[in-house]
Order: sequence, then structure tokens, then C-alpha cells
Amino acid sequence: MGLGPEPTVFVNPLGRPAEIKYPPCAVAIFGGAGALSHRKLLPALYNLTLDGELPEHAAIVSFSMEEFDDDSYRAFARDAIQENSRRPIRADEWNRFARMLSFVRGRFNEAPDYQTLRIHLEKIDRDFGTAGNRVYYFAIPPNFIETCATGLHDAKMIRPPNGDGTFTRVVVEKPIGHDLASATAINDRIAMHFHESQIFRIDHYLGKETVENLMVLRFANAIFEPLWTSRFIDHVQITVAEEEGVGARAAYYETAGALRDMVQSHMLQVLSIIAMEPPRSTAADSVRDAKLDVLQSIRPFSDEEIEKFVVRGQYSAGLVAGAPARAYREEDHVEPQSRVETFVALKCWIDNWRWAGVPFYLRTGKRLPKRASEIAIYFKSVPRILYNSNPRAHLAPNMLTIRIQPDEGLSVHIVSKVPGAQVRLQQVAVDFHYATTTPEAYETLLRDIILGDQTLFMRRDSVETSWQLVDPILGMWLESPDDPPLYSAGSWGPLEAALMMAADGRSWRAL
Ligand code: BG6
Repeated sequence: MGLGPEPTVFVNPLGRPAEIKYPPCAVAIFGGAGALSHRKLLPALYNLTLDGELPEHAAIVSFSMEEFDDDSYRAFARDAIQENSRRPIRADEWNRFARMLSFVRGRFNEAPDYQTLRIHLEKIDRDFGTAGNRVYYFAIPPNFIETCATGLHDAKMIRPPNGDGTFTRVVVEKPIGHDLASATAINDRIAMHFHESQIFRIDHYLGKETVENLMVLRFANAIFEPLWTSRFIDHVQITVAEEEGVGARAAYYETAGALRDMVQSHMLQVLSIIAMEPPRSTAADSVRDAKLDVLQSIRPFSDEEIEKFVVRGQYSAGLVAGAPARAYREEDHVEPQSRVETFVALKCWIDNWRWAGVPFYLRTGKRLPKRASEIAIYFKSVPRILYNSNPRAHLAPNMLTIRIQPDEGLSVHIVSKVPGAQVRLQQVAVDFHYATTTPEAYETLLRDIILGDQTLFMRRDSVETSWQLVDPILGMWLESPDDPPLYSAGSWGPLEAALMMAADGRSWRAL
């Protein structure tokens, strides 16, 4: 199964106009010489240039403390692209891109440095025609968000939305806070200087092509939506498995853990798209309202339910893809007695008419056997009659699996007859694989920020509702005298996760 050679685009799924007009704009990256810029932002901006998806009048300014000038920053960017871009450097495009780059050395807590940045950006407007439009991208640790927002405000660098077509936007990365109270405080502080319509909260999962496709799959096909209810669906599994350990990010991870790092953001966002009602329109707030409804309908966890339905784990030494991997507690910058969880599996319920009685199982972990993010929709079994009447061999239920990454695509698992004289049945998968490489999430997200489309960004209420859900779990783990159960690196998590499923007469899908 696959799309024809020239897929027909009837309507742009997100309602973007067919002829996209990119407004002139200067992107100022706070922390433009940091790891996120190196790994993701600069390569994404470069790829947008290759695709003609940056405005004709665009400039990229890094604002940070390193000892760079324009030329050495360009060398840094070239290195970032060489190392991390999905497409190689092309001399002509690189030269065009390099001309857009400049560097302003500054400290985030020094008012005069904001003046320097302001003057630089005004010059950029004159030289590049960026028309006073600004995207301030905070690629910085969360504790600097307030300082930078205030610095911009005090330097009079934030224009309120005024309907005249010019814009100032701010981009903030997850994690937004480490619990509900801190997230609310950060959101309050940003809101002192920026209107919600100017704030783009990144959850990069929402920029993944396969996640963006979930809505299209559900609402542009007649064959799925009628079945998308508790009447036909038995349960849903969402897995985000990583082979990698905590790597160089231990200092951050020690303050986060898998529940904050993956479940509170990426997994609940994916869940909300899978479970949402059809939105009124593809407008950003219609979509975000529909997603919020799901988050608000997830049954809060009682203490007893946390005990039974939320499993945590931490990796011990083991073998991943044949190579020895050390225990989490032996990783650099990890406390030897750390109780931070690197694995979470949980079961939750969405208390609305559509999903009454359908459990949603989520699991995520580091140092699992492979990198695989997948959604599996398990349909109910056919009645135990006709081909399903053998009491010793039940037919496998239909299943729809959606592969977020890698090997992006989806499979519909159906039962079919094995050719031959006898009636023998087997489960077969009808597969769709993307034929081309998909753009990186950050390309999609940066393009949408410049276009001002907030559909794929987390609204304040959704961030806070997600924290509300995970806060009691965090609280209970904090109080608990127990360490998280261990699982060997390279295994699918602690036994408890399998037992939770087994108690429901189910098992985790083997990936
Ligand atoms: C980040 C988490 O948000 O997502 C990381 O902080 C995680 O811990 C990463 O590894 C996974 O992203 P991706 O795109 O590689 O699946």
C-alpha cells in the first residue's frame, strides 16, 4: 500500500493557504550557541532554507555569552549543520544561509546587553528588510525564562499584538516547570509580558510528521472514525522506547525523570490527539480545545490507583544491541543513590462517552532494546463463532499500529486465509511506509512559528492540566521509601510493567 507517485493535496490539513507567504522576520535565538541550537535549531533553519521555506527577508541572530563574532558563529553553525542536518551542506545555499547569521554577545541578566541586541536588530531590519518582526527563541534553561522575558520588556523590545500585521513572538521549550506550581509560576511570568497568542510552547513531538498525520488519518478517512470508540476498540497502547541512556543530559535528567520528561509532555500530547473529538475546524484553538477536553477527561489517579496502575523503573547494567551499557546510577553526573525513574508504564482512563471502559496504556523508557515509538489500537475480537469458534485458538484481534518513528508509517493487521485447500487463517499486516524521509520536527515547528500558526504548540491550559495529572504520582514517589524497581538495560522494563498488563489479561505489544 502506498500513495501514488503524485499524491493529490485537496486541502492543507492544517488549513494553511496553498500559496504560503512567509512574513519578513528576524529570529533571535537566546542560547544560539548552545546544544539545542547545534543539534536542532540551526540544522532545521538550514533545511528550511533549502526548501525555500524561510522568508525572503529573514535573519538569524544568536544572543548568548560565548566568545563568538559573526564569522566564528558561522563556523559553529556550519559545524552544527554538517553534524546534524538531514541533508548535506550545499555551497550556494550555505552562502545564502551564512549571510543571514550574526552574533551578539550578551548576558541574559544585563540590561545594557539587551540594548545592544535591540540596536543590532534595528540594523538587521534596515539591512535585511525584516520589518520589525521578531521571534525570540528561548533555547535556554527554564530558570532564565523570566529574566529574559523581563529583559526584553524593559528594553522595550516586545510589541503587543496590534493587528497591524507586525509581530513579536516568544518560543519556550519544555520542560515548563517541574510540577504544577512551578509551571503556573513560569506561565504567569511569561504572561506578564506576552499575550498567549504570542507564546509558542514547544513539544517537539507535535512537529513530527507522523504525529501531525494522526489527525489526518482520523478525520480525512471514512474507515477509521466510525470504529474509533469503546464499542469497537478494546484498548490502546502508546510506547515511546529509547535505546539511548541518559547520555550527556544527566544533570537535567536527575531533576526530571521519565514521568516529567516524556509522559507529562510528549505522551499526553499524543494521547490527546488519538482520543480527541473531531474539532470544529482546523483552526489552532479548535484543535487545542478538543485536545484539552481529553486531558481534562483523564481520570485523576487516586493513591490506590497509582500503586496499582503506575509502574516506574530504573535501568541497571545490561546489554543494549549487543553492547554493554552501564547502570543509570553509574552514569556521569548521576547520584550513586539516585531514585530517578528512567521508565514509566501506566494505565489511564478517559472518562467520556467515547472512551468509557477503554484503558489506555502508556510506556516509555531509556535503555530499552530498541528505539521505537508506536501507537497500537487494539480492536475488539470478533464473536466466538464461525472462524473464531475454536476454544483452543482464538483469532488475533484486528489492530492498527501507527509508527511514529523510526520506519514511519502504519499497518492494519487483519486476518486472512492462507492460500490452499484447507481453511487456515493467519494475521497479516497491510503496511504503509513513508516513501521519502520526513522533515525534522523542528523544521515544521520553526516554519509554523514564523507563520504564526499555533496549532502544534501547547497552550497554557494544556500544560497545566497535564501537570495536574502527574503531580500526585510525583508526590507519592517522593514520599515512598522504596527505590524504583530495576530493569536490565536492554530489557523491556521491570517485571511490574508486564504484571500490570497480565492482571488485565493483556500483554505489551512486542516491538
Ligand atoms: C526530549 C527528552 O524531549 O525528547 C529526551 O527530553 C528524549 O529525554 C527526547 O530523548 C526524545 O525525542 P526523539 O525525537 O528522539 O524521540
